[in-house]
Amino acid sequence: MNQQDKQTTRVKEGAFHLPGFLSLPEQERIASLCLELGKNAAGFYQPVLRSGAKMRLRMMCLGRHWNAKTYNYELHRSDVDGLAVQPIPATLAKLAERAATLADFIVRPDILLVNWYGKDGRLGLHQDKDERPETLQAGIPVVSFSIGDTCEFIFGGLSRSDPRKKIALHSGDAFVFGGPARLCFHGVGRVLPQTGPSGVWPSGRLNLTFRQF
Ligand code: SIN
Ligand code: MN
Repeated sequence: MNQQDKQTTRVKEGAFHLPGFLSLPEQERIASLCLELGKNAAGFYQPVLRSGAKMRLRMMCLGRHWNAKTYNYELHRSDVDGLAVQPIPATLAKLAERAATLADFIVRPDILLVNWYGKDGRLGLHQDKDERPETLQAGIPVVSFSIGDTCEFIFGGLSRSDPRKKIALHSGDAFVFGGPARLCFHGVGRVLPQTGPSGVWPSGRLNLTFRQF
């Protein structure tokens, strides 16, 4: 399928679901790259929040590390093991730029958070607001790629109590939120076991969120 033929669904102003954005070979390439990087010393770990609660996912930050205790970005994983953060592969950043373009946004990602959700994986409702104030004010988008098992993605409004939509994110889907939707609350509900394409991701769901600091 041609990239131009793929549909873009507007979820709300500034938020777009791009079903099937990634071809199967692209998903395979991203998955094997993430597995490879994830095995390095500065690879996947389970973040522990300042409350002491363990997040229900494994994470690997590229470009800059998101510190789960301070909510700041840094070049060394000071809340984990002090190791230097691995760089973002340029090929992945380019793909994210292409997805943003389809939603009429421009982003130059220098942060990539890679999340690996097991069958009980979850991510509570939150805003992505730890990037620079200039980035947030300009509405420079977050670009998200999903690979492996399908999840229930929850997307709300600018207040925690605003109405929310549930969107099934399948393997290969992209989701882009910027402009007036940049600070919308969102989260990950259930991950549906055994729903991903066979042989692409070992188990559960892989999510990549590209951000500009
Ligand atoms: C995130 O909100 O940072 C990750 C979203 C997802 O896993 O789809
Ligand atoms: Mn988020």
